[in-house]
Amino acid sequence: MTEPHLPGDPTRDETLQRMIRVDHAGEFGASRIYAGQLAVLGRGPKAELLRHMKEQEQVHLDTFSRLIAKRRVRPTALLPIWNVAGFALGVVTAAMGEKAAMACTVAVEETIDAHYQAQITELGPDEQELSATIETFRQEELEHRDIGIENGAEQAPAYRLLTQVIKAGCKAAIAISERV
Ligand SMILES: [Fe+2]
Ligand SMILES: [Fe+2]
Repeated sequence: MTEPHLPGDPTRDETLQRMIRVDHAGEFGASRIYAGQLAVLGRGPKAELLRHMKEQEQVHLDTFSRLIAKRRVRPTALLPIWNVAGFALGVVTAAMGEKAAMACTVAVEETIDAHYQAQITELGPDEQELSATIETFRQEELEHRDIGIENGAEQAPAYRLLTQVIKAGCKAAIAISERV
């Protein structure tokens, strides 16, 4: 955030508010995806892994919920949509099979990794505590991505198409949740 401020650019405070808003939305969506997957695969051999990832998403979500309150950020108006869409994405991918569920994780977590990386770069030396929090979560998202790959994501039917569609959806959701 050392670049010159141009008219029409969001202010530093607006930028921070957007970051927290979209991260809160994303972690909420992630927790809903794993909830949807567990609704289908909760008794299967991957249930423990899914529960582990869901628990970490809950910590991420709780952290951003606290930041939303502490910094008086307006949450996205689209939480009801992400509630349903996240759960549905989890259910649909899990219904396609364990490998498709893992492919969903790879697609989502790779998108979030890039998103968090961009935020850390944008923050630069500012907001060190927030930046460290995002980096910690980014590492855990990468752990989830690795779990997905280790558990057969790439053998999912139509892996490339599936992950491309999910990534496009995640990117759209990110762009919308920063503002709305
Ligand atoms: Fe997360
Ligand atoms: Fe994650």
